[in-house]
Amino acid sequence: MPIISADLSKDKKAVFLGVPNMEEVMQMQLSYRLATQKGKSIEKEFWFTVKDLSDGIKRNDAFENLDLELIDQFVGEVENSAASDRPASAEQGEKLFQETGCTSCHATVGNAKSKMGPPLHGIFGTEQSLEEGSAVTVDEDYIRESIIHPSEKIVQGYENEMPSFEGILSDNEIESIILYIESL
Ligand code: HEC
Repeated sequence: MPIISADLSKDKKAVFLGVPNMEEVMQMQLSYRLATQKGKSIEKEFWFTVKDLSDGIKRNDAFENLDLELIDQFVGEVENSAASDRPASAEQGEKLFQETGCTSCHATVGNAKSKMGPPLHGIFGTEQSLEEGSAVTVDEDYIRESIIHPSEKIVQGYENEMPSFEGILSDNEIESIILYIESL
C-alpha cells in the first residue's frame, strides 16, 4: 500500500503515516528504515491489525502539521489503480499472499511443517485428508472456500485457527491467490 505522508510528533516519539483507503481488521506488515540523528540506520518490520479508524487523531495535537486533506485527495487516485481492476494473475496472487499475511502461517517452499497452517506448495490437485475423516480434492473451489470459510473443512492434524478473509479480499484477489497456489 502506498504511504503518502509521514509526520513526526512534537515529542519525536511517534510517527503518523498517511495511508489512503485503510480498512479495519486488515492485517498489515510494515517495513521501515530509519536514520538516527547520528546517522545510524535502523531497519525492521512488524505486523499489526488495523482495529480503529475513528478520527481521534485529528484532535490530537501531538501532531502539529498534519495534512489530512492530502490523504483524502489520494483516496480517489489509489482507488483507480486498485488491484481489482487488473486481471487475476499468479504474480498478483503472490504479492497478495505476502501482503495479506498468509506467509505468517503457510510455507510455500521446503518441507517445514513448523508454521501454524499446512504448507501450500504442491497441494493443488491432491487429496487432502480432513479432521472429520473424509478427504477432499484440492481444486479452485476448495481453496476459495478455505479462504472465505476456513472453518468449514479443517485439514487433518491442524486446528481451526485460520481467520476468514471474507470482505478483506475481493473475488478477483482470491482468484489471483488461487492461481498462485496452483503454480506452487
Ligand atoms: C493465523 C494463521 C493463518 C493465516 C494468517 C492464514 N491461514 Fe490458511 N490455514 C491456517 C490453518 C491453521 C489451516 C488448517 C486448518 C483449516 O483447514 O482451516 C489453514 C488452511 C488453509 C488452506 C487449506 C490447505 C490444505 O492443505 O488443504 C488454504 C488453501 C489456506 N489456508 C490458504 C490461506 C491463504 C490464501 C491465506 C491468506 C489470505 C491464509 N491461508 C492465511 C492458518 C492460517
